[in-house]
Amino acid sequence: MRYMITAALPYANGPLHIGHLAGAFLPADIYARYRRLVGDDVLFVCGSDEHGVAVAIQARKEGVTPRQLVDRYHPLFERLFREFDLSTDIYYRTSEALHHQTAQEFFLRFYETGQLIEQTTEQFYDPEAELFLPDRYVVGTCPHCGNDRAYGDQCEKCGSSLTPQELISPRSALTGKVPELRPTTHFFLPLDRWQERMEKYILEEHRDWKPNVLGQCRSWLQQGLAPRAITRDMDWGVAVPLDSARGKVLYVWFDAPIGYISASKAWAQRRAQTRPDASPDDWKAYWTDSTIVHFIGKDNIVFHCVVFPAMLMGHGEFRAPDYVPANEFLNLEGEKISTSRNRAVWLHEYLQDFPGKSDVLRYVLTAIMPETKDADFSWKDFQARNNNELVAIVGNFVHRVLTLIQKYYGGRVPSPGVLEPGDEKILAAVGESARGIGEALEKFRFKDALAAAVQLARDGNKYLTENEPWHRIKTDPERVKTVLFSGLQAVAGLGVVLEPFLPQSAAKIRRLVGMESVAWATAQQTPLVGAGTQLPEPELLFEKIEDAAVEAQIAKLPLAVGVASEALAPAAEAPKPDVAFEQFALTDLRVGRILKAERVKGADKLLRLEVDFGFERRTIVSGIAAYHTPEELTNKNAAFVVNLPARKLRGVESRGMLLTVEGADGTLRALWAPDEAPPGAKIA
Ligand code: 2FM
Ligand code: ZN
Repeated sequence: MRYMITAALPYANGPLHIGHLAGAFLPADIYARYRRLVGDDVLFVCGSDEHGVAVAIQARKEGVTPRQLVDRYHPLFERLFREFDLSTDIYYRTSEALHHQTAQEFFLRFYETGQLIEQTTEQFYDPEAELFLPDRYVVGTCPHCGNDRAYGDQCEKCGSSLTPQELISPRSALTGKVPELRPTTHFFLPLDRWQERMEKYILEEHRDWKPNVLGQCRSWLQQGLAPRAITRDMDWGVAVPLDSARGKVLYVWFDAPIGYISASKAWAQRRAQTRPDASPDDWKAYWTDSTIVHFIGKDNIVFHCVVFPAMLMGHGEFRAPDYVPANEFLNLEGEKISTSRNRAVWLHEYLQDFPGKSDVLRYVLTAIMPETKDADFSWKDFQARNNNELVAIVGNFVHRVLTLIQKYYGGRVPSPGVLEPGDEKILAAVGESARGIGEALEKFRFKDALAAAVQLARDGNKYLTENEPWHRIKTDPERVKTVLFSGLQAVAGLGVVLEPFLPQSAAKIRRLVGMESVAWATAQQTPLVGAGTQLPEPELLFEKIEDAAVEAQIAKLPLAVGVASEALAPAAEAPKPDVAFEQFALTDLRVGRILKAERVKGADKLLRLEVDFGFERRTIVSGIAAYHTPEELTNKNAAFVVNLPARKLRGVESRGMLLTVEGADGTLRALWAPDEAPPGAKIA
């Protein structure tokens, strides 16, 4: 079977963190490795997403050009892909000429076949920054709740979806200046025309997609697909290839997924230069006659499940994706990873602090992978999984078998005698483990697959404990030969089944057992390592991680909760005009004990809080879901306004408002009240 496997292209506007690895790179790599091991023909691509407003604005902030910014990050990403053994056939970049050409051809195909519409709309323009502002970069007062820091796409306080034009007193988030409305003409992909085709493609032909993916798609389809602008007024990106569209580039979400195709083309071109049997057209089969699998995070679902498939179908020469096994998000120590607050585990720093331990991070992130719901990475859990699983289970089993063979037989694999049922069981466990892992991986269940691999080492340890070769060597030395021979087959099996997850450790195991083949089918053979094979000196696979090492990591994180965080440095904004004290005193501020917090269905930003105020319990809806998980709020005291009129938000009546503190970067945090304050205590 032929497989086209992609991992979401990371924006080259900031360093990579564990969320990137757990969300897309690692599952894609594990899957690609497994597919190759079973003998499938795999092309696995990734690369840097170098265009778009996020790159342009970061460059502006740093006082460099977008080109300088991406030239800084792209080589760093490329190196990290190597260091974490992410086995892409090519790590590409979207600023390459071949990509520009491929994306422009796509656009022209759509343009020339009447599949685009042109529309003139009014958009905010920042005369100082000299650019049209993306919705997110227009801020102003929310017409629904009066929050004076609402964004042009959404009010984070009340959760309302907004357009920049709805904001009262809009200003540019880049310069603080009042933006001007200017007419501008763009090309739109009329996705409304695709409604029926997409309903069939997703709801009928791909009912087997993961529930988290189908759920988002269903909600998009129910809302009705609408035309989406695919061009922008910018000078950084892929130029729209029409004379009439000077100064416009393709929207980054139009060009980025085409990057998968450009990367495939570049792979074929490069290979054709060195291999006489290869052709620069070899990429085509992967995009027409193959199984296409996109690994992404949940924020990319609509682009990969609706927009990109429509682009591929509309183009006419490509196959649409077969699977889009999106992951949910990874949190860090109970809070969202935040690039702007430097609240992340950066991959390059991890390797500096834990040199040679790329497999350990791969292991932990696979064990906690956010496959069906958001997951949490904590340093204590990282340490525990390393010490209690990698060291105590996998490393210990491998080491015990190898050192005993070394000690009793000078490293030469002994010949087994008559097999007892226990020996047969452990020998059969190798093949069973490989089968179980394969079944799980084929369903994109990475955690289960990894657990099945570790189970083989657990079974091996149990087998050793039951047979006690270290005691029997005196009483029944013949039996010990059979036990260590059988145990060694399980060790060798680990050298195969761990390969998708822990490539360095698996290779080391294979070297230590003198086994060359890594093909998945090897795990079904008996024996994997023949009697008489001379083994090298054993080496340890993993080492314990001490408390001090993880404590240092925890200390590096910016303060998790509360107000005293650097990112919450006061926004340099002038105070509002004075009010009379009597007027201020009309606002009733109280401590509320949050008894329960849960998400509001259909509203990403809202949390529904059950709050005890002493005098009564109330339901309060707060637009804080992007910044706090329900768990972080539960059983906490926070500050509330309790004498605001009741309001309905997404059908839920809210009586009062949670007070929040806004960071310099616009993030919100609950304003905590002391734990010892009784519910309903006055705040003044
Ligand atoms: O969300 C992101 O980080 C995007 N750069 C992902 C792009 S995936 C693909 F379309 F290239
Ligand atoms: Zn609002």
